[in-house]
Amino acid sequence: MMSETKWNNGFSVGIEQIDAQHKTLFGYIADLENSVENPDDRQRWSAIHYAIVQLRDYTRIHFSIEECLMEILGYPGRANHVQEHARFVNFLSELERRSITHNDITENEIVEFLRNWLQDHIAVSDKEYGRYFSNTKTFIARPTGGTE
Ligand SMILES: [Fe+2]
Repeated sequence: MMSETKWNNGFSVGIEQIDAQHKTLFGYIADLENSVENPDDRQRWSAIHYAIVQLRDYTRIHFSIEECLMEILGYPGRANHVQEHARFVNFLSELERRSITHNDITENEIVEFLRNWLQDHIAVSDKEYGRYFSNTKTFIARPTGGTE
C-alpha cells in the first residue's frame, strides 16, 4: 500500500501557517503508513510506536495554537472544538499504549482511524473556524495567497 495521505488545497483553512502545520500532520500519517509496510514484527511495531509519539507531540502543539487563536478571535465554536481535540489527544495516548502491547488493534486500524479523523476534522471543524477567522478583520488571519 502506497502512502495515500496527502494534503491538497481542498483542506486549506485559508491561513497559511495553519495549513503548513496541517501539512506536517499529514506527513506524520504518511510516515505511519510507511511503517506499516515493514515485514519485521519488531521493527514494524517500534516504527509505528515512534510515528504515533511524534504525531501526538506535534498534535498537542498544533492544537494549542489553534485553541489560542480561537480564544483571541472570540470564536463561538471554541468549546466544542476544544472538546474534539481533547478526545483525539486521549485516543492518541491510548494508541501509544496499544502500540507497545499490540493489544486489540491492528496496524491498519490505527492508520485508518488516524487518517480518517484528521481528514474529517480539518475538512469540517477546522474549515469552520477558518471561515470565521477570515471574516474577522485581523492581521492574524492573513488569507492564503493574499496580495496584501
Ligand atoms: Fe482543530
